[in-house]
Amino acid sequence: MAKIAVLGYGTVGSGVVEVLERNADSIKNRAGEPVEVKYVLDLRDFPGDPIQEKITHDFNDILNDPEVDVVVEVMGGTGAAYTFTKSALEAGKSVCTSNKALVAAHGAELMALAREKNINYMFEASVGGGIPVIRPINESLTADKILQITGIMNGTTNYILTKMRREGTHYEETLKEAQALGYAERDPSADVDGWDACRKIAILTSLAQGGTVDFNDIQTEGISDITYVDFKYANKLGVTIKLLATSKVVNDKVYAYTAPFMLESDHPLYNVNGVLNGIYVNGNMVGDTMFFGPGAGKLPTASAVCGDIVEAVKNKDHNVIVVWEDKKVELGDNKDLAFKYFVRVKDEEGEAKKVRDAFGLDVQPIRVQDVEGEFAFVTEEMAESDFVIKSKLVDLIKSIRFDDTAMVE
Ligand code: HSE
Repeated sequence: MAKIAVLGYGTVGSGVVEVLERNADSIKNRAGEPVEVKYVLDLRDFPGDPIQEKITHDFNDILNDPEVDVVVEVMGGTGAAYTFTKSALEAGKSVCTSNKALVAAHGAELMALAREKNINYMFEASVGGGIPVIRPINESLTADKILQITGIMNGTTNYILTKMRREGTHYEETLKEAQALGYAERDPSADVDGWDACRKIAILTSLAQGGTVDFNDIQTEGISDITYVDFKYANKLGVTIKLLATSKVVNDKVYAYTAPFMLESDHPLYNVNGVLNGIYVNGNMVGDTMFFGPGAGKLPTASAVCGDIVEAVKNKDHNVIVVWEDKKVELGDNKDLAFKYFVRVKDEEGEAKKVRDAFGLDVQPIRVQDVEGEFAFVTEEMAESDFVIKSKLVDLIKSIRFDDTAMVE
């Protein structure tokens, strides 16, 4: 019998308990022994709930109990979660987590500690919720060199952008609706400013490259500037707008960014809508692969955590190798990358000539109904450094890059 402790009885923590109970038989078969929750650490009490008999308010109960093999950290944050994780690993208990903030900030250190203790720090649920992507990158694709990862990794922003596109709604009202439905947090900045997706691409890139990508180094732009007018143009062009998190290897350098992009209809992520996530991974041997599914939510996230619990139980006293060293991965300057740009400019006297002079285009102005005083155009592919200079020569309202990821058929 493997005994586990769950730190935090919130959405994911209660989901973990539910999955372990509902699928107890198959989990027992796959883990090779029954898996039982012995403790749940939470500040609160849950009178009348059967979980109450397992509630403890003292982490030392867990730490000092030699019966506990696996600790599940689903508290979130990088404060107590970090201290508890470190103490658990030092005490020889494997830790499974959904906490992307902690993995992005201290992944290399916690994995090194797990390796030293011959146990495991597992974090499948930290990226893409219920979508298997960490283990596929670390194990199934381990013979490949990963050349590109591009994903819709944030369900909140994908819900907002999908609704704006389908219903022509404004950003602010759509965000409020997402908050009312519980898809967006009361403080939505981590999602809408792109930081959640940024941490997730930092985790995947660290795994793919075997070193540490500091999420603070990743150029990060959110979706709060995307308006219903942008979607009017997007609809006219037959494209959509998605928040993408990408890392790619170009000329042996690793580049990474999180930003809203325009996607043409043959883009592999074009149809990833609502709260779903999709992650495209290109390996130098396998070629194009896609991972798709529920990027958040109680049971999908708990499913990923419980998959890790089974793996940790199967690998007691055995460290499953994860190559993610402390050594920093230096990122290339994104200004060296090339994109096509969608550009909105003010429709002033002589603007079309300014655009032609700057971009050398036979400009095809794009206009949409009920939007006055401006027009838009799409550039050829050009270096970002070049675009920055040229866009200063026109009366720029807004620009959005195009992403040209394509699957080879
Ligand atoms: N806030 C995250 C999202 C939750 O919207 O995708 C899952 O990490």
